[in-house]
Amino acid sequence: MKVDGISYRSIWVDPIDGWSVHIFDQTKLPWSLEILRLTDAAQVIHAIRSMQVRGAPLIGAAAAYGLTLAIKRDASDEAMEQSAAQIAAARPTAINLRWAIDRMTAKLRPLAPADRLREAYLEALAICDEDAAQNEAIGNNGLGLIQSIAAKKPGEVVNILTHCNAGWLATVDWGTALAPIYKAHDAGLRVHVWVDETRPRNQGAALTAWELGKHGVPHTVIADNAGGHLMQHGQVDLVIVGTDRVTRQGDVCNKIGTYLKALAAFDNNVPFYVGLPGSTIDWKVRDGVREIPIEERPATELTTVTGRAMDGAILTVRVTPGGSPAANPAFDVTPARLVTGLITERGICAASEATLAALFPERC
Ligand code: MRU
Repeated sequence: MKVDGISYRSIWVDPIDGWSVHIFDQTKLPWSLEILRLTDAAQVIHAIRSMQVRGAPLIGAAAAYGLTLAIKRDASDEAMEQSAAQIAAARPTAINLRWAIDRMTAKLRPLAPADRLREAYLEALAICDEDAAQNEAIGNNGLGLIQSIAAKKPGEVVNILTHCNAGWLATVDWGTALAPIYKAHDAGLRVHVWVDETRPRNQGAALTAWELGKHGVPHTVIADNAGGHLMQHGQVDLVIVGTDRVTRQGDVCNKIGTYLKALAAFDNNVPFYVGLPGSTIDWKVRDGVREIPIEERPATELTTVTGRAMDGAILTVRVTPGGSPAANPAFDVTPARLVTGLITERGICAASEATLAALFPERC
């Protein structure tokens, strides 16, 4: 996608040295666009944990390059397995991280150590290229949904609500939830996006709003609690969110607060769709509420807020009383019965075991 006319992916190998890995430091957005150069696996793990790099598909791609950088240092069996385990443990909820590490090790284990580095770069690039292509396909498949809503209200704006950031910053390119919106906007449809701020880390207010603004997509940031009210008053035609893990029966794990949006959408007959590539489906898990590990992040993410002061300085301030404990579960699970449909690179399907298996027969 483009930032100020320049095309970027969200992760890439340095074209000059040919080996180090570049990402945008997402903790600095929307205040400044800073590129980070990662040169070893420890830096990649830190970037994933601190959420300099984030979003399920993108942490999968970062993990693939993290393992590649580890192999550059030591390609032995023992070192590779140790690094793979450390990188896979960086964050627990998004399945793409484990999926990418499994794919890399399956490719590299049979090779002699001396042959691993070249193959690791090729495989990490293949993961990135596939993610970008799959997300564009999600965009094309989801475009039809937006077109059919637009056809029912000619000349009017289609209002779409999204939660967290599931745009190109959260993937290698295009995004999942935002890909259909970019496609619709580029096709000339009148779309407007309600952007949930997404406390505590404000991925909506900081990242989704920034992305949409850079692409020229009309949008409005709302408090996380405003969505239900807007739905009751007919101001939301469609909800599209991304996901960190979908179970084989179609339960959807995503950023904390998604479940409440799904309940409100269900109560108001607003279609609730989820954009995802096949790499986000965990075929080993059925019941998302009971089986998906939910990351508990530091309480300081909740007790403080970071922003730009009027004098331009970036400040972090405390917003709760010093003595109040805080809990910070980072994800929740929306049961399949609340999901209208899953928008994948292979088409749109109901959130059910049978329909997912029909779309991905080789994986189930
Ligand atoms: O904690 P984050 O910011 O990594 O969480 C990201 C999300 O929950 C996204 O909605 C999800 O990864 C989908 S990304 C296309």
